[in-house]
Amino acid sequence: MRPTLMLHGGAGSMKSMDDPRERMYRAALREAAVAGAAILDGGGSAVDAVVTVNVVMEDSGVFNAGLGSGLTADGRIEMDAAVMDGTEQDYGAVAAVEGVANPVVLARHVLDDTPHCMLVGRGAEAFGASISVPLRPDFPSAPRIAEWERRKALMSESTGSLADQLAALGGVLGDASSDKDSDGPVGQADTVGAVAMDDRGRLASALTTGGIWMKMPGRVGDSPMIGAGLWSVDGQGSACATGTGETILRTLLCREVVDQMRAGKGATEACAAAIGLLESHFGSGMAGVIAVGPDGEPGYAFHTRGMGRSLWMGGMAEPACGIWPGEDWDRAVPG
Ligand code: GLY
Repeated sequence: MRPTLMLHGGAGSMKSMDDPRERMYRAALREAAVAGAAILDGGGSAVDAVVTVNVVMEDSGVFNAGLGSGLTADGRIEMDAAVMDGTEQDYGAVAAVEGVANPVVLARHVLDDTPHCMLVGRGAEAFGASISVPLRPDFPSAPRIAEWERRKALMSESTGSLADQLAALGGVLGDASSDKDSDGPVGQADTVGAVAMDDRGRLASALTTGGIWMKMPGRVGDSPMIGAGLWSVDGQGSACATGTGETILRTLLCREVVDQMRAGKGATEACAAAIGLLESHFGSGMAGVIAVGPDGEPGYAFHTRGMGRSLWMGGMAEPACGIWPGEDWDRAVPG
């Protein structure tokens, strides 16, 4: 079968980027996709490909994951990550971990090396230490501390709607129709993740995040939650979400995407239907999702102002990218 890999760099509130920022962002998306494509092209597994993609994005500092993670209200990094293997319908996740260089690698170890599905906080970190998972003493980075100080100065009490409360926490990503632009290297963007089908038709998904900026310490979003942040079952489909976790959790977004595909929708149509369902409850500007169907058909949908994304399918010389709503892939994609 022709392998397929799709990744997202996070649904975001970026309205526009100057040329150097946009070039840097596209290069970072493509670099991650190239790493995953090399694994699939060499006959490797979908699980290996999606984990590798996430490691590259955690290390880049460009995305809200790993080195680039957003900070909690008290100025720390608490990261969530998960991996799902669609063949075994098994998954591993970690939540609220600090100091771990690559939370997605720790999630993979939970999947492979423990009888459990999820470890959190100190228990997850102790497990990581027991298997010598690398730490990063340079967390959080100087640019992220500066951004935290700026946000702290802006934060005010809010008693309004869910959107208002999440906006006060820094969590709302930006309605596609809004005029406000945002700060940060690529605007405010969320969780990164990937879905893949390998040449044996095996499906997988993985994602990693610093979570929403200025979240309460201990808050866990959708990313490590099976069915919400990710869902993969061979022969049915694979999906991976990004956006405001409180809305994705309450929609069980990725399970919804795959259920829509099981009901006969194509990957793009299924993603759009699931985002439409979320929007009908919580309004626009909240989330995005990527998917591959049981036969490797790629699809995505988002209702934020942007969602960096990259696609590689067997036979492509290099991955294609896109960021904006309505933007076509910037490289030719097989039909
Ligand atoms: N989607 C990531 C989060 O809400 O934490």
